[in-house]
Amino acid sequence: MTLRSRIIGIGSYLPSHISTNDDMAKIVDTSDEWIVERTGIKVRHFADEQMSSSVMATYAAQEALKAAGISGNDLDLIVLGTVTPDKTFPATAVYVQSALGMKHGCAFDVVAACSGFLYALKTADNMIRLGQVKTALVVGVETLSKITDFKDRNTCVLFGDGAGCVVLQAQEVQGTTADRGIIDTLIYSDGSYAPELCSTGGPSTNHDVGYITMNGREVFRHAAVNMAQVSAEILQKNGVDLSEVDWLVPHQANIRILEATAKRLGIPMEKVISTVDLHANTSAASIPLALAQGIKEGKIKEGQLLLLPGMGAGFTWGASLIRL
Ligand code: ACO
Repeated sequence: MTLRSRIIGIGSYLPSHISTNDDMAKIVDTSDEWIVERTGIKVRHFADEQMSSSVMATYAAQEALKAAGISGNDLDLIVLGTVTPDKTFPATAVYVQSALGMKHGCAFDVVAACSGFLYALKTADNMIRLGQVKTALVVGVETLSKITDFKDRNTCVLFGDGAGCVVLQAQEVQGTTADRGIIDTLIYSDGSYAPELCSTGGPSTNHDVGYITMNGREVFRHAAVNMAQVSAEILQKNGVDLSEVDWLVPHQANIRILEATAKRLGIPMEKVISTVDLHANTSAASIPLALAQGIKEGKIKEGQLLLLPGMGAGFTWGASLIRL
């Protein structure tokens, strides 16, 4: 017998304000036709002035805790992925900890951009496997609209805000791929690509939060390759055939990246959860938001095998293999 992290609750939150492509065309020189054709995005949600990342994360967490049938004080750990923290410090996770009434354990952030949820998941899963914690909340949350340059049409149409999370709990299992829970997670980074997608600012460089800046073509080129490669690697490592995977739940950057990843991997688009039209790119929040949406739509069901690849600034990338 071995310890594995089982997902016992999933939650999501999207701010109520929806911005259409036509709304974006009033701000920059773009069109619904261009955005849909190049990205697949139709709408995105934007947080208002008062809505911080911790507030959105707390709403999502409350939904997940309710689904799990536990309270905030039952959590031993919160790991939160974001590049849009409430403040430079302390960690956004501690605001969530306080809002959920969690009085023990620990809460901290990880910064891995669009791979943030996978990095957070791996961290929490490792601590559960080691027996250090029993119950953990893993969050991906972003208020990207607050670091978006709304004068730059190359980036401003691509991003949205939102939060998604899972509650993990330690379970004794045989340790096979038939057992429910997180089977494996792989994470990677290559810092030589940091300039291709980054913020223009930072506390220790120019005392500024900065805006998103990106070499779109370079990101595109690597995204599909890396996500397909790491997906194939995690399947091979765990002796799982691609045909056994029920759903690919990838980071939602761009429908063309999703299609290229699926094609390289050899999985049909019918098995790919796509929410890029509804949410745009919500970075660390995109995978758990897609997971939650897939469940709400009745596509993803308990016991199914899920493959979650992601790729983002750093470059960072990774994949998680989960029996829900
Ligand atoms: N509306 C209209 N025209 C635009 C817009 C816009 N919003 N943005 C750029 N253009 C123009 C460009 O200026 C360019 O015009 P030019 O030829 O006169 O110079 C033209 O469209 C073509 O630009 P390209 O960069 O070649 O367009 P491309 O087909 O590569 O699509 C895009 C651009 C959508 C950014 C694509 O490169 C992409 O999706 N890259 C991945 C980026 C991404 O998803 N980043 C998210 C973060 S990382 C991640 O999540 C993996």
